[in-house]
Amino acid sequence: MDRLEGKVAAVTGAASGLGRAMALAFAAEGMHVALADVDLKNLHAVRDQIKGVKSCAMRVDVSQAAEVDAFAERTAAELGGVHLVCNNAGVSLSGALWEMSELDWEWILGVNLRGVANGVRAFTPRLLAQDEGHIVNTASVAGLISPPGMGAYCVTKHAVVTLSEALHHDLRERGARVGVSVLCPAYVPTAIAESERNRPSHLGASRKTPQDATLKKAVASGKLSADDVARAVVAAVKAGRFYVPTHAAIKGAIRARMEDVLEERLPRDPLRL
Ligand SMILES: NC(=O)c1ccc[n+]([C@@H]2O[C@H](COP(=O)([O-])OP(=O)(O)OC[C@H]3O[C@@H](n4cnc5c(N)ncnc54)[C@H](O)[C@@H]3O)[C@@H](O)[C@H]2O)c1
Repeated sequence: MDRLEGKVAAVTGAASGLGRAMALAFAAEGMHVALADVDLKNLHAVRDQIKGVKSCAMRVDVSQAAEVDAFAERTAAELGGVHLVCNNAGVSLSGALWEMSELDWEWILGVNLRGVANGVRAFTPRLLAQDEGHIVNTASVAGLISPPGMGAYCVTKHAVVTLSEALHHDLRERGARVGVSVLCPAYVPTAIAESERNRPSHLGASRKTPQDATLKKAVASGKLSADDVARAVVAAVKAGRFYVPTHAAIKGAIRARMEDVLEERLPRDPLRL
């Protein structure tokens, strides 16, 4: 989709971090923007920053199919259509895999995986009907490698990568003019390490783990900003690029994983290469 001006973008997780930066970058391109998040206060603050284009903001829990359906309906009704969909809302959870509770899995799979699946199900038929559009799914570099101490998060992000690849193939098989990108950043300073703030009380609480502090430090030290990542997304959508690995320095670890698979070696720790 090389021309963005006047088109409509829908972004989940738009109240903070990467979603906020993408929404503002799309508005700067002249797109009308629909914003969704569970954090309505910060979502409205982002909406207040958007001038000169149409916008709407809605409380949406992406793990709930009906809420994502309602978001798609409202986007089309209020902004006159939808062309670019960013399934971006996500949460992080640290700890060894055997320490993950049932409720931990329900929360992280619900937001990070089912949230993306819900967005694809709710929006793709609209893009197919107009035979124009683009879907950006936010995965992570943790969808391409498997660093220790964040296994449940890696599971969801690897799933988002394969979901996006399969979606791409399904759309090509139909001959549809609907593009797909999968965003795979490494650490970017956002509020991702404080994901607990949005965990619904009926899904329990995240236990404190030694990896929490490591994650917080790593996220804070990220070399690219959310705005840098948003610029990379705009460029990828315009160019129709599928993989968007924003941090070039991590490519060695991705290559090492692929080599370990092909050479049938024990997996190397990507953080120790
Ligand atoms: N920051 C990083 O280092 C990094 C790296 C790779 C991938 N990512 C991914 O980027 C995406 C955005 O994260 P971020 O870094 O901007 O973090 P963030 O915490 O700053 O923003 C995430 C947003 O998602 C919202 N959210 C949480 N649960 C939700 C739900 N159930 N329904 C709707 N919205 C919900 C939060 O309220 C928040 O506004 C996530 O998918 C994350 O996994 C982040």
